[in-house]
Amino acid sequence: MTSSARDLWRRAQFALCGIERQRGEPARSPVARYLDPVRHAREVAALRALPQTVGPASRVAAPGDWFSAGVLGVPLLVSRGDDGMLRAFVNVCRHRGAIVVTPDECGNGRSRFVCPYHSWTYDCRGVLVGRLHEADFPHVPREAASLVELPVAERCGLVWVVPSPVEAFDWKGYFGPLALDLDALGYDSRAASPHERRFVQPSNWKLVLDANLESYHFQYAHRATIAHLFHDNLVQQDSFGRHQRIVLPKRSLAEAETGSAVSWELLGRHSNIIYFFFPCTFLLWEGDHVNGFNVTPATPQSCATASWMLVPAAAQERRAAEHWQRNWTIFWDAIDEDFALAASMQAGLASGANTALNFGANEFACELFEREIEALIDAP
Ligand code: FES
Ligand SMILES: [Fe+2]
Repeated sequence: MTSSARDLWRRAQFALCGIERQRGEPARSPVARYLDPVRHAREVAALRALPQTVGPASRVAAPGDWFSAGVLGVPLLVSRGDDGMLRAFVNVCRHRGAIVVTPDECGNGRSRFVCPYHSWTYDCRGVLVGRLHEADFPHVPREAASLVELPVAERCGLVWVVPSPVEAFDWKGYFGPLALDLDALGYDSRAASPHERRFVQPSNWKLVLDANLESYHFQYAHRATIAHLFHDNLVQQDSFGRHQRIVLPKRSLAEAETGSAVSWELLGRHSNIIYFFFPCTFLLWEGDHVNGFNVTPATPQSCATASWMLVPAAAQERRAAEHWQRNWTIFWDAIDEDFALAASMQAGLASGANTALNFGANEFACELFEREIEALIDAP
């Protein structure tokens, strides 16, 4: 683990007393960052070079398992080969570019993927293994017409794909120490995913992620849902390179009896912990499960959201399906409030009322995120 439960507990307690209440530099973010089509295109190009979560790892646990998805305008096919290896491909036929597998489907036991146009056929390793009238394609040898492969990894119970073909990707360097907490808590390919949701949100993607990096809004925006559980305006943040971990202490933490031992279970009962993997993945650990989403730009004014609940193997038997359903509902009741406000902000951005969004010293984690995005798109 990157920190002990006791260390996080102690710091959260100190934050409650005001001893270590974190603050940063107040900042402004120009509204053009959320409206400009040129800026949008630069963001999409930069984000395609970084990992995106595309589905639960449990969906491709066995040889022959597969699912199709899409992220940042790239259709994807994720397949566990007969050799046990997980691969990700651009889900686009090498003949004339039709989508091979219908998006957002999954299945198992499939060894062939057949393009619906002229039936070019690929195996579960992406290799072109059949086509009609072979002799008509002397200029496209089979060995040069496999599906285009992408970097893929399984971590924290999810499949991560870099949606642009690069020779190699440094996964160890990308995850760094931030993934260790969730690894140790059993978030792997055996983690079940009982709930899932996908939709297009009418706001810039950064407005959605900003809402998850501060708790300044909890007491008013979430007054009907989760405000009563949490302290006002209090986050305990750590940066891990570009990633962030944020502890949200619950009110119950102040009175919690720890005795001699502080366990992760106790910490999870009295706080929520956000694991934000830059640039687009938000995972909220809620003690016995994770709710998370990947948010990517679709247009300057809209974004694609794919969301999953993850339940580690050790917790699956302990609770009935209603428990996970109830938590999924509570999560989305609150997050829907954030998404509605992000849509409201987007509608107001073009009015000219503001030239910039204002981040207070208490919203420093949003400013860190926005700063990293600026560095990313400015990088050569
Ligand atoms: S486009 Fe796929 S077989 Fe023709
Ligand atoms: Fe919120």
